Amino acid sequence: MSRILVTGAAGLLGRHVVRDLTAQGHAVRGLDRRAGEEPAEWVVGDVTDPALVAAAMAGVDAVCHIAAVPNIWSGDGQAIMRVNLLGTYTVLEAAEAAGVRRMVFCSSDSVAGYTVREGRMLPPRYAPLDLDHPLLATDPYAVSKVLGEGMVRAWALRGMSAVALRTVFVAYPEMAAEIVARARDPDAYRGPMAGGPSAAGGGPLHHHIDPRDVARAFRLALGLSMAPGDFEPFYLSARVTLSPEPTLDRLRRLHGDAVVVRAPEVYAREPFAPLYDLTHAERRLGFVAEHDQRHLLAGLPGFAQGD
Ligand SMILES: NC(=O)c1ccc[n+]([C@@H]2O[C@H](COP(=O)([O-])OP(=O)(O)OC[C@H]3O[C@@H](n4cnc5c(N)ncnc54)[C@H](O)[C@@H]3O)[C@@H](O)[C@H]2O)c1
Repeated sequence: MSRILVTGAAGLLGRHVVRDLTAQGHAVRGLDRRAGEEPAEWVVGDVTDPALVAAAMAGVDAVCHIAAVPNIWSGDGQAIMRVNLLGTYTVLEAAEAAGVRRMVFCSSDSVAGYTVREGRMLPPRYAPLDLDHPLLATDPYAVSKVLGEGMVRAWALRGMSAVALRTVFVAYPEMAAEIVARARDPDAYRGPMAGGPSAAGGGPLHHHIDPRDVARAFRLALGLSMAPGDFEPFYLSARVTLSPEPTLDRLRRLHGDAVVVRAPEVYAREPFAPLYDLTHAERRLGFVAEHDQRHLLAGLPGFAQGD
């Protein structure tokens, strides 16, 4: 059993991570602006408050840093930079001072720059997009995750080991109605229309992942064999998108021949495979998503029966 601090623990993703770690017998302390409903020890306050975060870090073996302004619609650039950058710095400083050895940082696939049209979204250079692809983020949220990863990498070099999980849009059960509303008429969809906590996301390819899978990836990242100084990022996605069109058809319709297809066999095997290369997470982290939400779309116009 380890003692693990989870920031953002009361949020949509944090609660799944707390649930998963608790079920595996770990002692979880949650930090958030409000106490969550999961049975954990709760520290209530702001993740940018050094004294509060230092107190939360006492006796902890590892930290999952999830607290953030989670997209460009949840706060302006000032709020995003304050919480996402100063929060990450505050957590890293407190973790180092407390001798915490492992940090798992909740990053985002937005670091690659292909999630929202704000800023200057560029087409990916090639598919599947892997860890060698340049980080082309241009909107404040995505930039905050690139810079957050940079800070985490720096603090890893100072002696801890760290993982950044670049997860795609998390399809929470609370988002199901939004996902269906978008799929019914993607061009007219302006979320949130169906009452979900935010718009159906996942970028132009409608990527998604189930929160139970992301929570498992956090657990695997906590147990990953690493040396002090190591920093490792991973792209995470379900094995299929929520798009009506196969991935290569959609990329071609949106960007012509701009996206070089490096491994056509990936899309021959699974036409709805995501943009992101999942082999690294599989090989190194032992992570393959077990869930997907395409069943929500079965029978909708444009979606083949049984998809
Ligand atoms: N939702 C997605 O599709 C998605 C995709 C990729 C990455 N992420 C990342 O996942 C993480 C969790 O996002 P979520 O979807 O659960 O959103 P969420 O808003 O439900 O969770 C964020 C949590 O952080 C807390 N928080 C925010 N500011 C804080 C502060 N100053 N002090 C203390 N706590 C604070 C909030 O209270 C909330 O509980 C974020 O890091 C987000 O960037 C989310």
